[in-house]
Amino acid sequence: RGPDAFTATGQPSGETAAARAQGGEFLTTATGTRLPDTDHSLKAGVRGPVLLRDHHLREKITHFDHERIPERVVHARGAAAHGVFRAYGTAATVTRAAFLAKNVETPVFVRFSTVLGSRGSADTVRDTRGFATKFYTSEGIFDLVGNNIPVFFIQDAIKFPDVIHAGKPHPDREIPQAQSAHDTFWDFVSLHTEATHHTIWNMSDRGIPRSFRMMEGFGVHTFRLVAEDGGTVLVKFHWKPKAGVHSLVWEEAQLLGGVDPDFHRRDLADAIEAGAFPEWELGVQMFPDTQDQTYEGIDLLDSTKIVPEELAPVQPVGLMTLNANPVNFFAETEQVAFHTGHLVPGIDVTDDPLLAGRMFSYLDTQISRLGGPNFDQLPINRPHAPVNDMLRDGMHQTAVHAGVAPYRPNSLDGGCPFHAPDGYVEVPFPVAAGPRGRLAPASYDDHFSQPRLFWLSLSPVEKEHVIAAYTFELSKVFEQTIKERQLQVLARIDPVLCGEVAAGLGLPVPEGVPGADPAPSPALSQVGRTWPVAG
Ligand code: HEM
Repeated sequence: RGPDAFTATGQPSGETAAARAQGGEFLTTATGTRLPDTDHSLKAGVRGPVLLRDHHLREKITHFDHERIPERVVHARGAAAHGVFRAYGTAATVTRAAFLAKNVETPVFVRFSTVLGSRGSADTVRDTRGFATKFYTSEGIFDLVGNNIPVFFIQDAIKFPDVIHAGKPHPDREIPQAQSAHDTFWDFVSLHTEATHHTIWNMSDRGIPRSFRMMEGFGVHTFRLVAEDGGTVLVKFHWKPKAGVHSLVWEEAQLLGGVDPDFHRRDLADAIEAGAFPEWELGVQMFPDTQDQTYEGIDLLDSTKIVPEELAPVQPVGLMTLNANPVNFFAETEQVAFHTGHLVPGIDVTDDPLLAGRMFSYLDTQISRLGGPNFDQLPINRPHAPVNDMLRDGMHQTAVHAGVAPYRPNSLDGGCPFHAPDGYVEVPFPVAAGPRGRLAPASYDDHFSQPRLFWLSLSPVEKEHVIAAYTFELSKVFEQTIKERQLQVLARIDPVLCGEVAAGLGLPVPEGVPGADPAPSPALSQVGRTWPVAG
């Protein structure tokens, strides 16, 4: 593989940049032949016809015809930046990952995104935000592919196509906010109550962040860190923005969606250009690596659950600073390929069934999105560690591999490459025995205690915003039965929440809902009703 095309600050480096710059004295074809004229096609006579033999015309138009690649199936709209991560060294006792050793500086590339909108959609919509970080470490690439919400909609990746089908624009009209699209989303989440926790975060102010610079990020799953001596701990990763967590209010988000649909990407690029570099502290919540993989009764392999920070404080392990905008959106922001399987020694995954599906999905989708299996050779995806693999050929291969024996051991190319004694090892965590089946632990059935915890943690104004969001979104649902079923879900979170939303929708409060909590949270008398009541 060639030299890195981008420096740590995002500037194209060395030969690659020079070769690609549009700065030469003369225009050429793709194959380097100088062009005297790129403004007129080759014709027989002044008024044509245009001749088929005009290769320059065909090359120019053919290349243009193929300029677009498929957008990401989810997280299609994003904005990104380069930066650097400096480790405090506080994690060095629990992980042998070299980039977490004291004062080690590692180049990073971060892509923020919405989940459901297409590439051209608006930035300020109510949605989850992606927060994906590529660490170009000395030991290979580590990707932390997280979101700005600490829990996920589903517990098992087998439901991912279903939840996305329900949330994407409706198949007939392709209108994201159409009446019918609201129906599919609320149909899904009211029938799959494991989504209740993520949904209430979406309906809170977290669903409409003020800026990418003011969002938290979460690895969501529990990961396993491995120390030099082989000892392990379980962790959850958190990004804490130095600028604090801030949100828009709904009316601002709506106005910005029309006035400046690029609000978040503009904000990020402008801040970096002005030298106001956004910063986040990376932290971990740490748990003992016990056989049952629970902490204080919370299942650490259930991605719909958090561990409250009161039970496990977030311990800072380093600081990330974003200090350079991409030079070329397509080459960097669009072609970057994150993967939960990009791990370095000292960091391992757990058996969270949601994570297991992600370990398959990213490479699979990128083969189709980026046109074959060689996208790791694209400048933005190249590791900053030496690569010596036995992967060969394939669509868009750009490396010229020497040697004749891409297998090992061999007796032709000197018998190499050797296995690295200090290389990446999956932790031999014992697998619990049991019957084979499409199974889930009983703890996965608790869908309401944590949404209630979240609701109770909110201030009165934040609660008002949640009520307003549920009321507004459900007012766009056409099917009465879906609204009624969602009110039953809300009754199981909190009677006050349910009652206020029901009143806003002009519907009766559901009675006798099994599992509904008898003790309502305090009434919201301090704050007047400020949201538009559905008509
Ligand atoms: C893309 C996060 C669950 C499949 C992304 C991106 C993020 C993300 C941040 C955008 C990456 C970028 O900026 O390029 C998450 C989180 C999840 C989750 C935090 C749960 C905790 C899943 C699951 C699947 C999945 C369960 C499938 C089984 C995908 C796919 C893409 C994607 C196919 C597009 C990738 C590409 O085209 O490069 N995800 N995701 N995700 N995710 Fe997830």
